[in-house]
Amino acid sequence: MQRITEPELMDDAEQAAAYAAADFSAPNSLFIESLLALQPDLNHLSVLDIGCGPGDICLALAAQFPDARICGIDGSVAMLDIARQQRDDRNSGLHGGGPEFLHYVLPEHDLPAASVDVILSNSLLHHLHEPQVLWQSVIGLGRPGCRVCVMDLLRPDSIRQAREIVNRHAADEHEVLKRDFYHSLLAAFRPAEVQEQLAAASLSQLEVRVVSDRHLLVSGCLPGGSI
Ligand SMILES: C[S@@+](CC[C@H](N)C(=O)[O-])C[C@H]1O[C@@H](n2cnc3c(N)ncnc32)[C@H](O)[C@@H]1O
Repeated sequence: MQRITEPELMDDAEQAAAYAAADFSAPNSLFIESLLALQPDLNHLSVLDIGCGPGDICLALAAQFPDARICGIDGSVAMLDIARQQRDDRNSGLHGGGPEFLHYVLPEHDLPAASVDVILSNSLLHHLHEPQVLWQSVIGLGRPGCRVCVMDLLRPDSIRQAREIVNRHAADEHEVLKRDFYHSLLAAFRPAEVQEQLAAASLSQLEVRVVSDRHLLVSGCLPGGSI
């Protein structure tokens, strides 16, 4: 089954609200476990979440690592509004005011080059019409030795399988969320396609693994020194 792209940004308010209200606890836990297997302590490190959406992963990491410098970026104002509201609602429990959430539509940004110790991204890659936007951002923003943890959906073999996955994991969710999930599955990449993207970016040292019936994980370190 060929990839069918979907709009890059989730900038519709209803869409962002449906996404923020959905239960992503299982994939978010899987993501955080995978990240901590790569880098167990984030305190005193600069951490960048690319395509942070409503900020759930940034906020969970900030609660666990109060001395990490965490920044989430996203191109959707609707998503960033939710992320900032969630942070401000929990502010009393977050050291130093919690994560920063900044608006950038990649590939455009003015973040300092080679400045980040840990780059993470969950469920952004399939939104990008040109996947090198993510990999070039990783190369440009990560310091030598930067830890990289990217998780994304995996494109199923068929439309029937995509429908089955939506029914298996999102049967009770909002119709808007189910529609977006289905389109996201069709827009996602196969592991071999991600491996080709990494090879084209000279990032073949990053490992690609299938980690659930609908997710793949890309993890490893940029070449060079240690963080
Ligand atoms: C499916 S959401 C994932 C949100 C979050 N990472 C999570 O795990 O819940 C994908 C996010 O990527 C953002 N996005 C897509 N293309 C982007 C781009 N070119 N630049 C910045 N953000 C982008 C969307 O606006 C959306 O908030």
